[in-house]
Amino acid sequence: MLPPGVRAIFVTQAEALGLGHAVLCAKPVIGDEPFAVILPDDLIWNRGPGALAQMAEVAESGGASVIATQAVAPEQVSSYGIVATGEFSDRRGRITAIVEKPAPADAPSNLAVVGRYVLSPRIFDLLESTRPGAGGEIQLTDAISALLAEEPVLAYHFHGTRFDCGTHIGLIEATIRHALDHETLSEAAQGFMRDALAELGVVDA
Ligand code: G1P
Repeated sequence: MLPPGVRAIFVTQAEALGLGHAVLCAKPVIGDEPFAVILPDDLIWNRGPGALAQMAEVAESGGASVIATQAVAPEQVSSYGIVATGEFSDRRGRITAIVEKPAPADAPSNLAVVGRYVLSPRIFDLLESTRPGAGGEIQLTDAISALLAEEPVLAYHFHGTRFDCGTHIGLIEATIRHALDHETLSEAAQGFMRDALAELGVVDA
């Protein structure tokens, strides 16, 4: 199902050379305009405008690229792109450095990149000259690091709850939370969960 006015164009990344390379594969269909990247294993849930809609507004008003960020536990920094920023105001702060999956000792902060980006088309030129980085992959993070030297890139604390559906437990949590919030499924979901917990002896039957 597509909303009116939306056209879907599919581009295949023939070889798994990294996220940066995957984004570069979309260059011919995007051309010379700002664009968004969504990593769908990061699910963000908000009752108001979605995280990307919030970010598009920030990008437009600030004339900048915008990256969603969230604080993570220090022991988790090596699973994410990590940013250093200037002071935050109105949920945004200018990124001064970004590094892909650093060891905790090398991390510039505990502010992690979440999978939503609004990027300037200049990133495509920079991706073309980005060499393999962390994990031997062409990293979007490394091209963003080069972009920082030329254009403003903002970290943005979005309104909403993020679920890391790249982990089993994150996917389960997202499913449960969405079911509980669902207009027609919530009641049945609650009943099912109560029964399951009672069967386990976690709550009284
Ligand atoms: C990718 C990015 C990383 C970012 C993460 C968010 O990593 O390379 O910078 O923090 O998504 O989910 P991946 O999860 O593909 O390893």
